Amino acid sequence: MKIAALLAGSAVLVHFLVAPVAAQPSETDLVERLGCMSCHSLNGKGGDRGPAWDGVGARLTPEAIKKQIVSPRARMPSFAQIKPGQLQVLVEYLAGLK
Ligand code: HEC
Repeated sequence: MKIAALLAGSAVLVHFLVAPVAAQPSETDLVERLGCMSCHSLNGKGGDRGPAWDGVGARLTPEAIKKQIVSPRARMPSFAQIKPGQLQVLVEYLAGLK
């Protein structure tokens, strides 16, 4: 009985440890949902009205990425109204595309 509880406990722990790795689909869901991919592409998939995101994390600092999302340069709509948590996810996701 005790052993079963221990096993269940470690399964929960493993789930938490693995969860950040599995977070990838929700980031891609978010950029789909917000419509970013109608203009931007990644790995050859997406729109071509904005620059491709491949390597964007190597071109821009996280600060510059955040600035582009909330107060973009011309030709990109502002996403200043998104939730702070979503903004954080977007910035970390894009900054990691190197
Ligand atoms: C209507 C088209 C459009 C949409 C939708 C859009 N963008 Fe953009 N984005 C652009 C354009 C155009 C540029 C280039 C701006 C410039 O340099 O004038 C750009 C530039 C960027 C850049 C800088 C890329 C670089 O290499 O300099 C980032 C980062 C970015 N967008 C993120 C996003 C995110 C995140 C979303 C969704 C929340 C989004 N964009 C939605 C059109 C769009």
